Amino acid sequence: MQLRSIADAGDLRGKYVIVRSSFNIPLGDDGKPRNLFRLLRALPTLEYLKKAGARTIIISHIGRKPEETLRPIYEALKERLSLTWGGLITAPEFSALREGMQDGDILLAENLRQDPREEENDDTLSAHIAALGELFVNDGFAEAHRAHASTVGVARLLPAYAGLTLAEEVAELEKAMTPQHPSLFLLGGAKFETKMPLVEKYLASYDRLFIGGALLHDLMKGRGLEVGESLVSDVSLVGASFLESAKIIWPIDVVVDAGDGAHTVRPLEGVASTDRIMDAGPETIAQLAQEIAGAKTVLWNGPFGNYEAGFVEATESAARALAASEAFSIVGGGDTVAAIEKLGLNDDFGFISIGGGAMLEFLEKGSTEAIDLLRA
Ligand code: 3PG
Repeated sequence: MQLRSIADAGDLRGKYVIVRSSFNIPLGDDGKPRNLFRLLRALPTLEYLKKAGARTIIISHIGRKPEETLRPIYEALKERLSLTWGGLITAPEFSALREGMQDGDILLAENLRQDPREEENDDTLSAHIAALGELFVNDGFAEAHRAHASTVGVARLLPAYAGLTLAEEVAELEKAMTPQHPSLFLLGGAKFETKMPLVEKYLASYDRLFIGGALLHDLMKGRGLEVGESLVSDVSLVGASFLESAKIIWPIDVVVDAGDGAHTVRPLEGVASTDRIMDAGPETIAQLAQEIAGAKTVLWNGPFGNYEAGFVEATESAARALAASEAFSIVGGGDTVAAIEKLGLNDDFGFISIGGGAMLEFLEKGSTEAIDLLRA
């Protein structure tokens, strides 16, 4: 079923529109957004609504602690778009600001997760938000895998449409689900237990799979290889049939922290019981660059080393190789996108998703509950 687009919502002049945006953006030590990727991707829908004369109320969350605030996002946003800070959406002051809105005005509500009812998808919060609008536009693809008041609750109570960015995400990720061959799926990060169905699905539709990051440790354990003190998931892959698939690209070498502070390159079969695997090794990086060069479609989510601890070599090398390739590339996930941004390679990819977990869930299931509520 097709998505209902805001372009099909009719005349929006003077209409109160609730928009779910993805402003969950990490902040730096200076308290400012560490990157503007999600913020910039929210602009097309907001500008569209402004131009159409809608009275737009933006709802979003930031972080996982209730005390976190969207104020730094507001400060960054107002350099690009004229809007007003609304504060808590349930406060009487917010309703007063709403009453005073003119056509084309935009009001940003405070972090919805300051109210526990957001994550509980509590009907009373959904009803409160819905009463402030006449239409709902979901543009928050990064939260499309969450069934919260702002993603599914409000969508059930108002005529609900897909924002421009959410619709683009769906269209591009659908392309990735039916790849041109030869196709290559790169999967990094951790928590194999959540990624197993995805691996099984893409083993069927893609030609080659490279599984890196902490996920690799689970694969190695499954094959009876030593992983030392490396991070592993709660799941055991011993006996898993996909380990024998010829589609899986096994790394050649890894970089380990041998406990003495030194970073040593070891062959995959040479990890010691006291080692901690931190990144892919140089031969693996070269092998990966070759695989990328030979692919027509490359789908990538998740870093290959312990990115947060500074082991960025394999992830950044893959980003450079992919940027230089002719392949149609689709990339997502916080650390993966951070690496691409750091290298200034954003324009050299086919599509960069704002989703992390949402991208993975969409790729696995082909939709989500929040997105289904936007279908005609
Ligand atoms: C994300 O950054 O992946 C989304 O904003 C969802 O955030 P959450 O994992 O805290 O629900």
